[in-house]
Amino acid sequence: MTRIEDLLAARYGAFAPQVKAELNPTLETLLSHRSVRQFTDENVTDDQLKLIIAAAQSASTSSSLQVCSVAIVNDKAKRERLAEVCGASGEFVRQAPVFMVWLIDFARAASILELQQIDTNTFDLIESTSLGFLDLGIASQNALLAAESLGLGGVYAGSLRNDVPSVIETLKLPKYVFPAFGLAIGHPDRAEKTSIKPRLPQAAVVHYDEYNPDAWADTVPGYDEEFAKYYAGQGVSNASWMRTLGKRLSNPEILHGRQQLRMHLEAQGFDSK
Ligand SMILES: Cc1cc2nc3c(=O)[nH]c(=O)nc-3n(C[C@H](O)[C@H](O)[C@H](O)COP(=O)(O)O)c2cc1C
Repeated sequence: MTRIEDLLAARYGAFAPQVKAELNPTLETLLSHRSVRQFTDENVTDDQLKLIIAAAQSASTSSSLQVCSVAIVNDKAKRERLAEVCGASGEFVRQAPVFMVWLIDFARAASILELQQIDTNTFDLIESTSLGFLDLGIASQNALLAAESLGLGGVYAGSLRNDVPSVIETLKLPKYVFPAFGLAIGHPDRAEKTSIKPRLPQAAVVHYDEYNPDAWADTVPGYDEEFAKYYAGQGVSNASWMRTLGKRLSNPEILHGRQQLRMHLEAQGFDSK
C-alpha cells in the first residue's frame, strides 16, 4: 500500500516535508500526478467522459458565470490539424483516445445578453480574459484529476496556442470564444518511462505574512539536483531546472507563435484592456 511519506518523497526528494497524516484517495490522486503522453488503444468510455466533464463543471466558477466550454475532437482530419499545430507535442494529440480543447466561452453569455437587449460592455476588459483563463484552468484540472482517479492519465497541450487562427478555423469558433489549451486523456501506456516529477521545496514557494524575495536562494540549487536525478531516470543527462528557466524565459521566439496571443485574443473580441 502506498504511504503518504513515499508520495511526498517522490514529489520533493530530499526536501520532502514531514507530516503525520493518513493517505486518503483524494490526496493519493493529487500527489501521484504525472503527465502521461503515451496511451494504449483502449477507449475511454462515454460514462468515464461524462464523469470527467461533471468533475470539471463541479469546479468553482467566477461569479457562477460558467464561461467554460470544451470541444471534444474525434474527427480524424481535425485531430491531425490540431496535432500539427502542437508541433513536438503533436504525437500525443494524434494518439490519445480523447482530445479536448478548453474554450473561454463568452459567446453563450453574449447571446443571453442579446436576448435581454443588454450590451456586452465588459467582454473587452482584461478582467474578463483573466477570469476566462482562470476558470478554464480550474475546471480542466478537475477533469484531469477525475480522469486520474479513474485510472486514466493525461497531459495538457498549451502548444495549441502556437497557431490560434488554425485552431479557431478547425473548430469553427465564433467571436467571444477562445481556445486556451488542449487536454489529452487515455489509458497510460505502461511502456512510457515517466514518474512523479519533483517540485520546488516548499521553502521556495511559501511566504509567511510578507513576500520574501530570497526565499528560493537556499533551496533551489538543491532542487536542481533533484530535477537532474529525475531526468537521469528518464534517460536525459545533465538536466537543470535553472537552465530550463533560462532557455524558456529568455527568448519569445521559443514560444513558436504563442507570443502573438494578444493579437489573437483581440480578433476574438477579447481586447483585454
Ligand atoms: C497549461 C499547461 C500546458 C501544457 N502544455 C504542454 C504541452 O504543450 N506539451 C507537453 O508535452 N506538456 C505540456 N504540459 C505539461 C507540463 O510540461 C507538465 O505538467 C510539467 O512538465 C510537470 O510535469 P508533470 O505534469 O508530469 O508533473 C502543460 C502543462 C500545463 C499546466
